[in-house]
Amino acid sequence: MRSVIIGSGVGIPKNVVRNDVLTKIMDTSDEWIRQRSGVIERRYADEGQSSADLGIIAAGNALAAAEKTKDDIDAIVFATMTPEFYFPGNGPVVQTRMGFGEIPTFDIRQQCSGFLYGLDLADSLIRSGKHHRVLLIGSDVHTPLMPWQRGWNITLGEEGEVSPEDYEFNTRFRDRTVLFGDGAGAVVIEGSENGERGFLTSRLFTNGATMGALYMKGGSHQRPWVQPQQIENGDLIPVMEGREVFKQAVTKMPEAVRAVCAAAGVGVEEIDVLLIHQANLRIVEGVIKQLGMPQEKVPHNIERYGNTTSGTLPILYHECVEDDRIRHGMLVCFTALGSGLHWGAALYRA
Ligand code: ACO
Repeated sequence: MRSVIIGSGVGIPKNVVRNDVLTKIMDTSDEWIRQRSGVIERRYADEGQSSADLGIIAAGNALAAAEKTKDDIDAIVFATMTPEFYFPGNGPVVQTRMGFGEIPTFDIRQQCSGFLYGLDLADSLIRSGKHHRVLLIGSDVHTPLMPWQRGWNITLGEEGEVSPEDYEFNTRFRDRTVLFGDGAGAVVIEGSENGERGFLTSRLFTNGATMGALYMKGGSHQRPWVQPQQIENGDLIPVMEGREVFKQAVTKMPEAVRAVCAAAGVGVEEIDVLLIHQANLRIVEGVIKQLGMPQEKVPHNIERYGNTTSGTLPILYHECVEDDRIRHGMLVCFTALGSGLHWGAALYRA
């Protein structure tokens, strides 16, 4: 029994925000952002549009591509670090809004590795025989985590036009703000007796000792849970040591790719398409260099979306399937690293 992806889809917000728009509201430049991260534009959700909402769009598209309906799904896995509510997670939100029956939903929060961990969970649910067809969604809406100071009620125009007097970001957090965007992807995964296709294996890792490189304050260690001072201090903006995350990413992802290839008994050179979590184009280049892989085997789209956290891998996968860069029989490797730190890699025969 193998787990096979039978359909994929995306939920992309309509609002395009180019680097030059950010330069109007904070002290940054198009040149800095492109050089350091490769990002040219990203999408922002409408105000009120949550990660569950984008996930629902992606899920609907994935179901249509798989030619399945909600009645064909027997479990939902939702990966996000920006759920619509503190609790419950997005699983039940999607379940009720899309009209699924009382099927179990799993909410996982492995941040940028969320979709990768979700693949592993979905594969395990299917291979254990407990579930036959799983809907896996990765979705994040980061805009609420950004350092807004005023002007919540602004609508971004089709061209991403904003008026500087309405929007203002705190420059202190510019290193984080410029990297992120909002977006979702989803896949439908089902069990198949055809042993030629499907997930081969994965290798997942966590090192909590490195969590200080990327995390967000607030939570059950303080009373009350959230304090007004936190907003003033900027403590509700993620903490990120960019250089440390960068170093970990270009070290750990290649190690994980090698480990998963060794576990599956294939050579790294046999990978046809390497899908790397889209955090930074320089990280993608660093991973390619470490692995000695040709660039044409490593697609990227961070230029258009920025880092959408749980959304990056399913969006990239979907685009590659759509334009035939991923075809039947190809060996696909997924790899990611993110807050936790969690990282890993999975191998999939398309
Ligand atoms: N615009 C202009 N200047 C900026 C900006 C900005 N947006 N941000 C920072 N700078 C300045 C800094 O203030 C600093 O100025 P100084 O030298 O006068 O002090 C200078 O640029 C260099 O800053 P560094 O932080 O050293 O820049 P670096 O080359 O490391 O690039 C970056 C920063 C892009 C954040 C990089 O370290 C990176 O991408 N790291 C990985 C981060 C990441 O992937 N995070 C998400 C992970 S996944 C998840 O789970 C969510």
